[in-house]
Amino acid sequence: MKDNKALTVDVGLDQLGGKSRLPARLDLAQSLSGLLLMLFMLGHMFFVSSILFGKDAMYMVTRTFEGYYLFGKSYPWLVSLAVACILILFVLHAGLAMRKFPASYQQYKVFLAHKSVMKHSDTSLWLMQVYTGFLMLFLGSAHLFEMFFHPEKIGPYASADRLWSDGHWPFSLILAIAVVLHGSIGLYRLALKWGWLQGADPEAGRRRLKVAMWLIIGFFLMLEMATLAAYMRIGIEHQDNAGERYHSVSEVEASPPASTVEMGLPS
Ligand code: HEM
Repeated sequence: MKDNKALTVDVGLDQLGGKSRLPARLDLAQSLSGLLLMLFMLGHMFFVSSILFGKDAMYMVTRTFEGYYLFGKSYPWLVSLAVACILILFVLHAGLAMRKFPASYQQYKVFLAHKSVMKHSDTSLWLMQVYTGFLMLFLGSAHLFEMFFHPEKIGPYASADRLWSDGHWPFSLILAIAVVLHGSIGLYRLALKWGWLQGADPEAGRRRLKVAMWLIIGFFLMLEMATLAAYMRIGIEHQDNAGERYHSVSEVEASPPASTVEMGLPS
């Protein structure tokens, strides 16, 4: 029978040197980047859903991000700059998360076997993070590249045309569901991991956090679906003039166009 030291040598653990703080630091970096992305997505959901208050509201949000109200002129590259920062954070977070993905089909099967034996809902939630994270890696990157290279193509008509006339809506629908699930489950797991809002009784704390997580999922799914539906409705109404840009009523009044229909005004 081999002793512990011999077993350590057998599996190569004696080569690893002293204890390292790196795994803990990488874990912290993963939590922090996830938290920052979640805060960004919170802002993103409210900005994008400004369309629910009308085309002028979304147009104003778009112009704000282009610096119009600060510089008196629109600079879409400011949006590209913001997208680049988010993209770096997104890639960093995905890279850190991938350390924990099952590395082979065999590891994946072992995980599934553990999951069915343990029957613990938090283990199933972790798997959901893997699936939604995987989806977001592709769909989220495609969306970010689109925004980076065409920052000028954001607005009530440009966004609605992209979703409806250019046929992006099925991807946005899947991405929206993945983002809401991933972000809300991520927040729940962060709270558990770092001991936020758990109170004196950890089991009761965990139950409360889970109820909060489902409420957050329900609220943001409804907001996302209402937002997507609003863009699609505008996209359908505008499909015969797809490609034409929106201008607010006040802009059109300041410099009347040859045709009000061309400028996106109601006839
Ligand atoms: C600075 C970076 C970003 C900008 C400027 C941006 C901008 C936009 C805009 C303008 C729309 C409206 C539809 C369109 O024009 O295509 C939209 C929709 C959407 N975006 Fe982003 N986005 C950014 C980052 C992200 C990220 C990181 C995600 C998630 C991975 C994301 C997920 C979505 C989803 C799911 C929609 C569908 C519409 C909805 O909210 O229901 N976006 N985004």
